[in-house]
Amino acid sequence: MAIREIRVDGDPCLRKECKPVTELTDRLKETIDDMFETMYDASGVGLAAPQIGILKQFFVADCNVEEDDEPMPMVFINPEIVFAEGEQTGTEGCLSLPGYQGVVTRAEHIRVRFFDINMEEQEMEAHGFWARCIQHETDHLHGILYKDKVEGELEEVDPEE
Ligand code: NI
Repeated sequence: MAIREIRVDGDPCLRKECKPVTELTDRLKETIDDMFETMYDASGVGLAAPQIGILKQFFVADCNVEEDDEPMPMVFINPEIVFAEGEQTGTEGCLSLPGYQGVVTRAEHIRVRFFDINMEEQEMEAHGFWARCIQHETDHLHGILYKDKVEGELEEVDPEE
């Protein structure tokens, strides 16, 4: 496994429409392992393929960040949000915009259809923080950054915190 370089805002990879994954090769599985390592190393809760320069539709996530939570590493391949309802407004950040955060309104409850690491189709319901993360990461696969949706200004934060 290896830590990959995370592309930051301004890199054209972050603004591209990604292509669906058609075949899960060994190389892609290795990339997914690297993405988990890179995400955990950066204390992130999600990392999408274009953030490491790969223009394919998949992301990794683990939003079980409370102290008593068990880790829940998940990979979402060719994700599609098939249902969304309600609203949540909260602060969001992104590993590709280090040192900033902003307020974004997202759906509170979603259902996402995706392929898992065995390329089997799955559906998952998500609420709250998981739902926010899945929406944010799915946006990355279509060249959308949270700053496009931010309410008001981006705020500077201390990246060491
Ligand atoms: Ni992001």
